[in-house]
Amino acid sequence: SAADKGAYPYYMLKEIDEQPGVMRTLIKHYIAEDGTIKIDDDILQSLHQSDRIYIVAAGTSYHAGLVGKELLEKIAKIPTEVHVASEFGYNPPLLSAKPFFIFLTQSGETADSRQVLAQVNEQGYQSLTITNVENSTLSREATYTLLLYAGPEIAVASTKAYTGQIALEAILAKSLGELRHIEAAADFDVAKELTKVANGEQELVDEKKEIEKIAAALLPTTRNAFYIGRSIDYDIVQEAALKLKEVSYIQTEGFASGELKHGTISLIEKGTPVLAVITDKNTAKHTRSNAQEVMARGANVVFIASRSLANDSDQIVLPDVHPLLTPLVAIVPCQLMAYYASLQRGYDVDKPRNLAKSVTVE
Ligand code: G6P
Repeated sequence: SAADKGAYPYYMLKEIDEQPGVMRTLIKHYIAEDGTIKIDDDILQSLHQSDRIYIVAAGTSYHAGLVGKELLEKIAKIPTEVHVASEFGYNPPLLSAKPFFIFLTQSGETADSRQVLAQVNEQGYQSLTITNVENSTLSREATYTLLLYAGPEIAVASTKAYTGQIALEAILAKSLGELRHIEAAADFDVAKELTKVANGEQELVDEKKEIEKIAAALLPTTRNAFYIGRSIDYDIVQEAALKLKEVSYIQTEGFASGELKHGTISLIEKGTPVLAVITDKNTAKHTRSNAQEVMARGANVVFIASRSLANDSDQIVLPDVHPLLTPLVAIVPCQLMAYYASLQRGYDVDKPRNLAKSVTVE
């Protein structure tokens, strides 16, 4: 069945490898041959009539929400805020006149998100749950649902749900942007771009041995590590850091590279691992100079860069994809890095200590 490990030693590796397939399945489910997007008009109209989108989520889904904001603001031109559910629940921001809520949740059962949805329903606002689990609580209780069709995700550390959620957000942004006659949406051939992503992800999972070697050289004994990036790369590094820390127990921070000098750079010592993610053209130069600053203080820097922005000495090169979809490829080597670091340090990568797959208490 889909929930078997098959020949894989761990679910996490199986689920990392499934990501190109998840992209293709999403394209098949949501985009017709002629490019028409199959999302209920009710959902689009309801989003279109709102003046601000509030994305609410926890953990990895929250990180997928950060990228969702980029997509919805740039492709559909609707102001979008992203909130951690457990924060929003007890200290909501001042809402706009016509808010629309999107709940991102792999399981559809996260208590922190359910608590916010209960409030949203009480106030009579419209909502959409994007989830991998049909008939889950958040799916049943929201106004609308869109499913990820990613197949069961068993490993505690979420991988294919993150890339699935971002891809579906891209499809949603495209169809909403078209409805709103946004030029950026007309220019965004989402089926073509996601197909390119699927091929790029395949290239990366096929090169996993390279990542295993880098992990073995960089992470076997360190107590801490940093991922750095700017702009969309800052979104990516927050998820990359969560992956590494949750399965390897290396204390890892995903940091906005430009902000390092305002305090955090004092943590850099000889040998501190720093992984710099560079997929954003506008900030590539700046992240490189921030990386130079930590190298000058002894950090052990690994560059993860898009092909078109890469230098000859960069250790991990990513296939080029649409600038708003780079998280879908950049996260793959970061997931593999976390996977191998966990195994090399002797842990059960599928069941990290203290964590649950779905957290049903607040
Ligand atoms: C738990 C899991 C995380 C997940 C988070 C949100 O903490 O361990 O991997 O990202 O819940 O879960 P959800 O099902 O709402 O996406």
